[in-house]
Amino acid sequence: MRLAALLLAGWALALPAAAQGPLDGAALANERQCGACHGLDGRSTVPDMPSLAGQGAEFLVIQLVLFREGLRNAPAMREPARGLSDPQVQALADFYAALPSGPKEDRGLLDAALAARGAQLSAARNCNACHGADYGGRAHLPRINHQREDYLAHALAQYRDGTRVGMDTQMNGVMHGLGDADIAALAHHLAHAP
Ligand code: HEC
Ligand code: HEC
Repeated sequence: MRLAALLLAGWALALPAAAQGPLDGAALANERQCGACHGLDGRSTVPDMPSLAGQGAEFLVIQLVLFREGLRNAPAMREPARGLSDPQVQALADFYAALPSGPKEDRGLLDAALAARGAQLSAARNCNACHGADYGGRAHLPRINHQREDYLAHALAQYRDGTRVGMDTQMNGVMHGLGDADIAALAHHLAHAP
C-alpha cells in the first residue's frame, strides 16, 4: 500500500507539467510567455528573434518538435518547448499561422544595390523553387519574406556553418560556399520582398 502510494506520487511528479496545461493556442502562448520574445502579435521586435505570425503551421509544428526533442539547438527555446504534448504543439502552430504576417514597412531602410545582389543570388540558388514565387512558403517550407533581416542572416549562417540542420539537410546544401557578404545580401533582399 505504502509502496503503491510512493510510486503513484513519483509518477505524478514525473509527468511533464504542460501535459495538464491549456490546449488553446492563445492561452498556451500566454502561459508560456512566447510573446515576450516573439512579440504579442507574433511579430518580433527583438534582434535575431524570428517573427512567427503568418508562418506555415506545418513548418511551425516541425520546428517545435525539433526544439522539444533537443534536435534544434537553441537554448532560449529549451524551456518554452519543454514537455509540450503533440496537440499543444499543433494548437500553438495554428495560433501563430493564423496571425497576419508583418509588412515590409517595419524593416530598415532599403539599400537597392544590396537587395539587387541578393536577388541575383536568390535566382542563382533557386530559392523560389522551394519557398514559393513570393517567398510565402507552403506546407513544410517556411515563409521567408515578412521576416526580420537579422534573423534571416543568422539562420542562413547557421545552415552554412552546419550549426542548424532542419528536418533534412537541403538548406545546408543550398548555402554551401556562400560568404558573409552573400548572406547579408540575401537577408536584405528577403526582408524587403513584398
Ligand atoms: C526567451 C525567449 C523565447 C521564448 C519565451 C520563446 N521563444 Fe521561440 N525562439 C526564441 C529564439 C531565440 C528562437 C530562434 C532560435 C535560433 O536562433 O535558432 C526561437 C525560435 C522559435 C521558432 C522557430 C521559428 C523559425 O522561423 O524557425 C518557433 C516556432 C518558436 N520559437 C516558437 C515559440 C513558442 C510557441 C513559444 C512559447 C511556447 C516560444 N517560441 C517562446 C526565443 C524564445
Ligand atoms: C530544395 C529546397 C530549398 C531551396 C532551394 C531553398 N530552401 Fe530554404 N528551406 C528549405 C527547407 C526544407 C527549410 C526548412 C529546414 C528546417 O527544417 O530547418 C528551409 C528553411 C529556410 C530558412 C529558415 C526559415 C526560418 O524561419 O527559420 C531560410 C531563411 C531559408 N530557407 C532561406 C533560403 C534561401 C535564401 C534560399 C536560396 C539561397 C533557400 N532557402 C533555398 C528548402 C529550400
